[in-house]
Amino acid sequence: MKALILAGGKGTRLRPLTYTGAKQLVPVANKPILWYGIEEMVAAGITDIGIIISPETGTEVQAKTGNGDRFGAKITYILQDKPAGLAHAVKVAYPFLRNSPFVMYLGDNLIQQGDLSYFLQKFTTQQQDAIILLRQVSNPSAFGVAKIDETGRVLQLIEKPKVPPSNLALVGVYFFSHVIHDAIACIQPSARGELEITDAIQYLIDQQKQVLACQLEGWWLDTGKKDDLLEANRLILDTYLNTKILGEIDAESNIIGRVQIGANSQLVNTTIRGPVVIGSNCYLENCFIGPYTSIADNTQLIESDIEHSVVLEGAKITGIHQRIIDSVIGQRAQLTTAPQRPKALRFMIGDDCQIELT
Ligand code: G1P
Repeated sequence: MKALILAGGKGTRLRPLTYTGAKQLVPVANKPILWYGIEEMVAAGITDIGIIISPETGTEVQAKTGNGDRFGAKITYILQDKPAGLAHAVKVAYPFLRNSPFVMYLGDNLIQQGDLSYFLQKFTTQQQDAIILLRQVSNPSAFGVAKIDETGRVLQLIEKPKVPPSNLALVGVYFFSHVIHDAIACIQPSARGELEITDAIQYLIDQQKQVLACQLEGWWLDTGKKDDLLEANRLILDTYLNTKILGEIDAESNIIGRVQIGANSQLVNTTIRGPVVIGSNCYLENCFIGPYTSIADNTQLIESDIEHSVVLEGAKITGIHQRIIDSVIGQRAQLTTAPQRPKALRFMIGDDCQIELT
């Protein structure tokens, strides 16, 4: 059994963060989203992992993630030279996959821990040609959607339908036998010019192959947008965070609930109400950090209140007396109040940023 994790794509829905980096490396609870998928594979016993990368962000993904040693896996990087679809990625990965069965996992998806092992076991014991996972969503038009009969059999799969036949979305985790390669060889690019994995699975269904659809009961998040990213951050912190304090906390600071603080971080007169994770080499003074906040390494927060937010590496927040909530602050971004007059707002804002002021 092998795994194919897709970490290409442009990440347009997470701009501006993705102008400077891969969407799969955006951190959730201070860990790149992509790494959760890798860890899930290893936990399920799959250690031979191929990762699809793009020319734009491949070097960064590779440099950060490495050869797999840190996960107890062997990682092979496979370059997809253009974003020509998920089925195209499988085609490009054929020299790695050969005729092995494999799990395909979209690198910006997160599913509840343990679910992958559960469905993998189903796949191997039942000798299916494919297992797809479905989950009810409120906005099916944004996904691949399944039409199923009363016994749960899939009749039709449609990619991003304008009029969805159900609210059952295709989760970005698929199990395939080698027959998927034959299906991919027979499909044509879709209207958006991509070879869709959804169409390849539809082809398997039309050919009466064994395609099992399972409903996912645990949580699933496609972290492609800001609010989904914040929700993933909330869920991961809520479910898995344990207290671990390595940094230095002065007598005036107050830590409530589950909190992690990395090495060489310093807290001065700061209250933290968990679940909160703070990386290493951070400096926090006179701050309130509220629940569901992740603060990456090398950040500085002074005289500021923040909660339900993600702060990326090297950011600096100073003297913001209104509470910051539901926010994602990019790498090295600076939010400050200026002492000089005239009293005014001064911005240097990158493309596609979103700012809400009261
Ligand atoms: C892809 C698939 C879609 C699936 C979704 C899950 O869409 O094409 O069928 O429902 O992932 O995340 P994308 O996110 O690439 O637009």
